[in-house]
Amino acid sequence: MKLRLCLNFILAALVCVHAVPILSSNEIAIKSAQGLRLLSLEEGAEPVWKTEDEKLDLMRASVNFFDVTEVYELEQKNGVVTSKDFTIAATFPAPSHQAALTPILSTVSTTNMQSNLNSLTAFNNRYYKSTTGAQASTWIYNAVKSIASGRSDITVSLYSHSWGQSSIIAKIAGSSASSPVTIVGAHMDSINLSNPTNGRAPGADDDGTGTVNLIEGLRVLVAAGFKPSTPVEYHWYSGEEAGLLGSQAIATAYKNAGTKVKAFMELDMSGYFKPGTKEVMALQADYIDEGLNTFLKALITMYSKIPWAMDIPCGYACSDHASWYKVGVPSSFPYEAITGNDNPTVHSASDTTSVNGFSWAHSLEFAKIGVAFVYEMSV
Ligand SMILES: *[C@@H]1O[C@H](CO)[C@@H](O)[C@H](O)[C@H]1NC(C)=O
Ligand SMILES: [Zn+2]
Repeated sequence: MKLRLCLNFILAALVCVHAVPILSSNEIAIKSAQGLRLLSLEEGAEPVWKTEDEKLDLMRASVNFFDVTEVYELEQKNGVVTSKDFTIAATFPAPSHQAALTPILSTVSTTNMQSNLNSLTAFNNRYYKSTTGAQASTWIYNAVKSIASGRSDITVSLYSHSWGQSSIIAKIAGSSASSPVTIVGAHMDSINLSNPTNGRAPGADDDGTGTVNLIEGLRVLVAAGFKPSTPVEYHWYSGEEAGLLGSQAIATAYKNAGTKVKAFMELDMSGYFKPGTKEVMALQADYIDEGLNTFLKALITMYSKIPWAMDIPCGYACSDHASWYKVGVPSSFPYEAITGNDNPTVHSASDTTSVNGFSWAHSLEFAKIGVAFVYEMSV
């Protein structure tokens, strides 16, 4: 919020105090041009300037943050929702379309997902600033365009950023066009933390699985002739690994445009659980909406072969759901395993489908929940 306090003095002098924004446009422009990045490391604290090297060191130390360099000013203008503001849970009707949905869920194909993932992991990496990262974005765009090609009510677009890899948005128009939109998201980028630009980062699980879960989910809904009442969007984000860049850009832009979002669900890693541990869908416990989690629990109980379980809190800026949380959208995030039983090979050359513990049967259940989420929210 921009506060402007004007004090009239007896001598009719007018003093105006611009209380915030704390950082001026000018400072942001100058520091960005010097290659510095503005990072928000903690909820409620002022963000701090870091070099790209310092930023990478934080990533290597597994410190999560929002890189707010490009959204800071819009956030100041539109406000940021914090956990203090997010205490009233949203309400959603319990899932009820089992008869129509079950046959659609039976068409979700692990063969298709494997085939799409093979194409994605063939890129040396999908880093948001690398050439192959941009090529991977184009590959996903073409795959999604081809799925939507027979449908004039589905538009697929590249959402470009100041870096090379575009995010992708597929919109299915609802018959009630102005109703709030349901969004499912995954991130397309991958990273090799020792050598982001040139190092090998297949990103099979992180987040190849979420990416192909959504591509396949859209495919089965289109094949079933699904026409929602309320609008639906599929998002594939760029730059998640570099501080939730793509999802923040889009969430902030939606908030600024007044676009109403009904609910958001992130799929970020769905293909692994530690061998010998109980197979679950682990629900993100913080920076989520309790009411949406209630809906998601019912959805999983109804449509998935594996049960839900609550994860331990992940903390600040864990994945793209946090970008939607910050703009006040009810969000949730079912994850492949309880933290600790999740994939240990992420952000490295070893994140492939041959890892012991990788399971397409496991990932399939998340793809189904993605379809069920969209269908039950928007039918
Ligand atoms: C990063 O990439 C290089 C070269 O492709 C590879 O040798 C190295 O193991 C990778 N680093 C990690 C952490 O996997
Ligand atoms: Zn990820």
